[in-house]
Order: sequence, then structure tokens, then C-alpha cells
Amino acid sequence: MNNVKSRPATRRLAMMLGAIAAIVLLSLALPFTGLLLDDGAGPQAQAQTSAAQASATPELDKGFGESNPRANYWKAVRAGNAGYTAVRGPEAGVLIQNGGVNWRALRNGPIAFWGSVALAVMAVLIVLFHLLRGRVKIEGGRSGMTVPRWSALERLLHALVAISFVILLVTGLSMLYGRNVLIPVIGKDAFAAWMALGKILHNYSGPVFGVSLVLLLLKLLPANIPNGTDIKWFLSGGGLIGRGHSSAGRMNAGEKLWFWLLATFGVAVIVTGLYLILDPALPRDQAQTMLIVHAACALLVMAVAIGHVYIGTLGTEGSLEGMSTGRVDVAWAKQHHDLWYAEMQQKGVRPEQR
Ligand code: HEM
Repeated sequence: MNNVKSRPATRRLAMMLGAIAAIVLLSLALPFTGLLLDDGAGPQAQAQTSAAQASATPELDKGFGESNPRANYWKAVRAGNAGYTAVRGPEAGVLIQNGGVNWRALRNGPIAFWGSVALAVMAVLIVLFHLLRGRVKIEGGRSGMTVPRWSALERLLHALVAISFVILLVTGLSMLYGRNVLIPVIGKDAFAAWMALGKILHNYSGPVFGVSLVLLLLKLLPANIPNGTDIKWFLSGGGLIGRGHSSAGRMNAGEKLWFWLLATFGVAVIVTGLYLILDPALPRDQAQTMLIVHAACALLVMAVAIGHVYIGTLGTEGSLEGMSTGRVDVAWAKQHHDLWYAEMQQKGVRPEQR
């Protein structure tokens, strides 16, 4: 009897692990498409660049040094003062935009560094948590009866958000860290080819993510308004720390935090991203500020998303099937969202065997 009961559970776990492995493997494999796309023109282009670099006057490189008589001239250029030019367009008269140098230092310095720290810390915390606490199981096992938790629209929006997010994450991290991480593995030419494709993927999945996330947030807003139960949920460890019981409505306080992080930092990523795509005439200093905000907020959302994906899959037995089928086991509902379950019963929603 036990064997019969445990077979579907084993299959479910195997399917879930398979799905996670597929997402991770596909994400890791995506940048390697650069190897297929590389048309071999790279070495030529590289040769041209090297030739151009060789012909450049070496004095220019020394231009920033005090000993060079042209230092003052180049300092004035670096100050970003516009000169005369017949070319029209924003900042067309500015030879060197000094803000770009500062922007690069900020992007490649603190943003890239602290972003990688946040991602690594989250990954380590999850591994430690899983080793020490393990999976949060359905106490007393499944009941075999289920209640509806997510509507078809909510699941569709969540799927669009999740798929576009994975594409944005892989392409975004490639842009930020590819120079250091991918070039040593796949080479400069394949990286250039991958980034040419990656930029298009990023720019098209961005609006999909933006529209579906905003719709999902609007749909779930009523269930995510904070209330007194949330404080008690945090004080009792959210059912994750210790084995105590934590009461919750349709969304628990942890989910509400995730919701409001998306509603603030997630929306900031969307707004800055859309600005960058849709306004080609954006002055460069504004574009640089947008890019810094975009990257910093995206890295924060990514770090927390790793935790969300863990909790929704390996971390909690019975959660993922809610998002994939729309229904959750009654035992899961009572354990994690008892107030919501009681409310559903009051509304006359009857559990069904499916
Ligand atoms: C890619 C893999 C992902 C998986 C496996 C996953 C899994 C889940 C699961 C199982 C739930 C339901 C939890 C419950 O029933 O209480 C959920 C809810 C939710 N997910 Fe995801 N998710 C993923 C990605 C994302 C991403 C990338 C975002 C947003 C950037 C996101 C935003 C949400 C939101 C807003 C909710 C509703 C909870 C709330 O309102 O706080 N998910 N997810």
C-alpha cells in the first residue's frame, strides 16, 4: 500500500528535479550558442582592431599624464565641454563623455562585485538551509483532496514571468560578467556572437516580463496587503525555522515581502529597461544612471528570486503543483495557509478528489 502511495510522489519529485536540471542546463548552455553563431569573421575583425590600435599615436595614451604638454588640452576634453560640430544629435559636440568612465568604474566595480556577492550568499544560504533543515514536508502526508489555489490567468502570467525572467537573467548576467566569465571559456568571437543574439533576446523578453509581471502584481495585490497576521508569522519563524505552526491567509508574510520587492525593485527594473529600449535619444548621462539602477535592482531581484524558486520547488513539498495544476492538497493548504483555507470553506469551496 505504502509502495503504491509513494510511486506518484517519487514520480513528482523526479519530474521536479528533471525540470530544475533542465532549466539550469539550458541556462548554462545558452551562452554556448555563441560558438554556433560565430561566423569566423572574428580573427579578421580582431586583426583590424589591432592594426588600428597600432597606428594610433602613442602620445594619446600618455595624454593624461602631467608630464605631457598636451595634458591640459585633454583635461579640458575630459571635462565634457561641448565643442563645435556640424553633426546633430544629443552631445554630438562632446568628444569624451567623462561620465562614461565613471559609469564603467561603478558598473564593473561595486555593482558587479556586490551583485556577485548577493547571488553567491543566497546560493550558499539555500544549500546550508537545505542541508540543515531539509524539505518542508506535508505533515501527516497528503490528504488526496485538493482545493483551487491559482486561476488559469494567474498561472499563465506566472509562467510568462518565470520563462522571460530566466532568459533575462542569463543574458543580463552574460552582459555584466561575460567578459570575465565567458570569454575565457568560449573565446572572444563566440562571446561577441552570443552577445549579439543575447542583446536581442534581452530586449524582447524584457517587455514580456514587464507586462506579465505588472498584470500578475495587479491581480495579486488584494491578497498581498500587509496585516497583523504577518507580524505573528515572522515571529513564529514562518514555519521554516523550527517546527512551529505559522498562521497565514492566502499569502504568507514571506510571499508578501517577495510581492512588494517585485512591486518596487522589480518595477524599477522594468521602467529603467523600457526607457533604455524605447528612448534612443536619451542623453547619455541619463542612460548611464538608468543602467546603474537597472543592473543594481535586477541583481537584487535575481538574488531573492533564487530563494523564491527554491522555496517553490525543492524547499516545500506540494507548492509547485499548485502553480502547475492550479490546485493544492488540503493538508498543504491547512499547514501553510490555514486562514485562507478556513475562508475558502466559509465561501463554500468544497475539496475534491483530483
Ligand atoms: C522560474 C521558476 C519559478 C518557480 C518554480 C516558481 C514557483 C512558484 C510557486 C510554487 C508559487 C506558489 C507559492 C504558493 O502557492 O504559495 C509561486 C508564486 C509566485 N511567484 Fe514564482 N516561481 C518561479 C519564478 C518566479 C519569478 C521569476 C517571479 C518574479 C520575478 C515569480 C513571482 C511569483 C509571485 C509574485 C508569486 C505569488 C506569490 C506572492 O504574491 O507573493 N516567480 N512561484
